[in-house]
Amino acid sequence: MKWDSKLYNNSQNFVSEYGKSLLEFVPAGTDKILDLGCGTGTLTNQLADRCNYVLGIDSSDTMIHEAKNCFPHLDFATVDALEIDYTCEWDIIFSNAVFHWIDNHNLLLQKIYKALKPSGKLICEFGAHGNISTIENGFRYALQEMGIQYVSKFNFPTVSSFEQLLAKNGFLIEQIYSYDRPTPLKDGDQGLYNWAIQFFQSELGQFTPEQQYNVLSTMSSKIKSSLWNGTCWVADYKRLRVIAAK
Ligand code: BEZ
Repeated sequence: MKWDSKLYNNSQNFVSEYGKSLLEFVPAGTDKILDLGCGTGTLTNQLADRCNYVLGIDSSDTMIHEAKNCFPHLDFATVDALEIDYTCEWDIIFSNAVFHWIDNHNLLLQKIYKALKPSGKLICEFGAHGNISTIENGFRYALQEMGIQYVSKFNFPTVSSFEQLLAKNGFLIEQIYSYDRPTPLKDGDQGLYNWAIQFFQSELGQFTPEQQYNVLSTMSSKIKSSLWNGTCWVADYKRLRVIAAK
């Protein structure tokens, strides 16, 4: 998917706002941190206060361009998470709201394990099983009305399946749990439309602008009673939080 770094920083800035609570698990005085899927670098900049060196990586050039622009004193690089090739290099690998974009969690955990120093830690949070299920069901319904089948591109594992994968890859699990995090979207009654235009762009690309509008209107009507609180749309986010040591 193509990331719009300006839209991400404006409408989606709750991503890094919520990510701040994950930072509390990163001990101050850590030596080296890899921020995996750093986006526009907001959390990388906060991680920098807790360590001697931080590198932010992201698969999107646009995001890395914006991160370098915002935080010229920090190091950033365009690297796909599944392409990292470090050996015993990092004390902490940190990642917020990224793993659900990655189809192969087994390979990802293999690479992360290898990249961590002995006793290094993975600290991450991402979409858990059931994340945005109301939104996806509404979108599925709207596409069905057009005669099209929706196939989710997201990877939202259960706690137990991810736990097994961590153990299989050698990690010692310190914490793993999922929790509901209802997330108010910006932009009032336009909030869900703006969210969907960004995150369902690969599915919506096949339609004319008028058809896109109709699909998203059908979706909104279908889920309004569940996710509209009278003032804003509240996305049904559910997070999986993990702290695991090598
Ligand atoms: C999430 O952070 O859970 C998420 C964001 C965009 C699309 C899907 C999931």
